[in-house]
Amino acid sequence: MVYQRVEDIPKEKLPVHIGLIMDGNGRWAAVRGLPRNAGHKKGTDTFGKLMKHCREIGIKYVTVYAFSTENWKRPKEEVDALMGLLRNYLEDTFKHQEEDARICFLGDREPLSEDIKQKIQKVEEASRRNTAITINIALNYGGRDEIVHAVKALAHKCMQGELSLGQIDEEMVSNHLYTAGQPDPDLIIRPSGEYRLSNFLTWQSAYSELVFLNVLWPDFTPADLDMAILEYEKRDRRFGGI
Ligand code: IPE
Ligand code: IPE
Ligand code: MG
Repeated sequence: MVYQRVEDIPKEKLPVHIGLIMDGNGRWAAVRGLPRNAGHKKGTDTFGKLMKHCREIGIKYVTVYAFSTENWKRPKEEVDALMGLLRNYLEDTFKHQEEDARICFLGDREPLSEDIKQKIQKVEEASRRNTAITINIALNYGGRDEIVHAVKALAHKCMQGELSLGQIDEEMVSNHLYTAGQPDPDLIIRPSGEYRLSNFLTWQSAYSELVFLNVLWPDFTPADLDMAILEYEKRDRRFGGI
């Protein structure tokens, strides 16, 4: 079906879960002769606008890729600046919760600083009962790392005798991922002109529709998101059937 506007799409046909790879901040800054961190700062504003838009159009789950398990390879100043932006975001979100958004963090928290770990816990706890939208923030997230984490948890249960090998199936693996209990992403959008997933939702993306846009994340607008959703509506999802 070809729709002209997102508002014309019946609610039950909208993607339930959208994944967004927030990429291109550094290049956005470079073309303006600014430090990379200026791009990250602008990217945070884009994130705020987009989450509001997703909620308004009726998207129930959004997962944004904020920091990958590989992003620690970046210079310390850049990692520190990203963690600083995260800290500000967590403080603001804790103060203003009028958006009715449930915030969840996906990823390994262990290497994060103590204060960030605590702020994450506070935000998750305070927003736990919000129902308009679930916003997952993938932070120190890697799809492979997530699978290893699930495999270890399952192996541990087997060793403890709580679980037998025969009981392990796809659903059980899904339920040991950071996204346990949530639907898989219907649509994954990557701006910035790169055509890869970079370790994002590796297990969950098995049947996701992918849309790649040639715009840098800080320039990404609600209209770009709408365009990606309209493209998604044209796809024929067969899941291996005919
Ligand atoms: C995405 O923008 C933000 C993070 C990965 C944290 P980049 O920083 O990757 O920007 P480019 O890809 O270098 O332009
Ligand atoms: C993916 O972007 C990770 C995030 C957006 C957080 P990268 O910039 O790290 O990905 P690569 O290195 O281009 O694959
Ligand atoms: Mg990048």
